[in-house]
Amino acid sequence: MKKNSTLKGKSILTVKQLTPEEIEYLIHIAEQLKNKKKRGLRGNLLKRKNIVMIFEKSSTRTRCAFTVAAADEGAHTDYLNLSDIHFVKKESLPDSARVLGRMFDGIAFRGYRHDTAEQLAYYSGIPVWNALTDMAHPTQTFADLLTIKEHFGLLKGLTVVYMGDGRNNVANSLTIGCVKMGMHFVNCTPPELLPDRDLLEEAEGFAAETGGSVRILHEPREAVQGANVIYTDVWVSMGEEVKFENRRKLLQPYQVTMDLMRLTGRTDTDQVIFLHCLPAFHDNLTDVTREIGAMEVTDEVFESSFSRVFDQAENRMHTIKAVMVATLT
Ligand code: CP
Ligand code: NVA
Repeated sequence: MKKNSTLKGKSILTVKQLTPEEIEYLIHIAEQLKNKKKRGLRGNLLKRKNIVMIFEKSSTRTRCAFTVAAADEGAHTDYLNLSDIHFVKKESLPDSARVLGRMFDGIAFRGYRHDTAEQLAYYSGIPVWNALTDMAHPTQTFADLLTIKEHFGLLKGLTVVYMGDGRNNVANSLTIGCVKMGMHFVNCTPPELLPDRDLLEEAEGFAAETGGSVRILHEPREAVQGANVIYTDVWVSMGEEVKFENRRKLLQPYQVTMDLMRLTGRTDTDQVIFLHCLPAFHDNLTDVTREIGAMEVTDEVFESSFSRVFDQAENRMHTIKAVMVATLT
């Protein structure tokens, strides 16, 4: 496997911190590791490494991706939620981080404040991987980029249209990831949910270097024209539950429907796909979704041949494996 020494020993907390070459490298080794697994091979690239996962918020994909990816390459994982540990209650974050740094080789952290991830990295002295904070979801973006590349064979020049809550963690990381790869990113969101001005300026700067672009639009029917990828996320992120009714009203016009897919002007799945980081409100199959119904995407689109959401979910594991291999070996 080709080595990129610039990532060894580093934490990965944002997409912004990575060069386009480093992102390409992560995608490249994720492809290799995926291929290896599909051939039924397991390895020992992470043999005897000990990984701790600290999750302040719920997770299905990310937690399982770290666990399976580590096991596939010989590492051991421990999962800790906040009721398991003293973290920031009886013991300060710097103290817990220094203890974990003496025992483990890497930390996957999912939580609220982004500076918790930064402090964990600073005090532990070992690689910390951001498994989602309120501000960023970088490992999601790596899987998104791999999924798009697998489908279209390239990234540069493609147009990704993100619909919905334009200022959440997934949108933030995806914006930067796309422009760093020379893609055209459209964030279609109401004026009330605009991304941070600094993030937009940074994205514009990266786009100027790569030939990509970033645009904010408010009108879905205009925004989707010419899209190769329509992407959405939940309207209410973890920790924002009190905003539920407000978001539902505000974002209803941004629901991804089959009409909107058709308005891309592209008719077949070679030309346009639908992505969602998941979990998604699209059906009525759980107690919660039955009460609420479809929100950010209709069941028709979610279950259609445009939808690549389960390839995308699987790719969380291959790309997270790549992140651990690149930073620990
Ligand atoms: N996409 C994602 O991060 O899913 P989980 O919340 O299930 O980890
Ligand atoms: N924006 C969502 C992503 C979940 C994977 C949240 O933070 O809840």
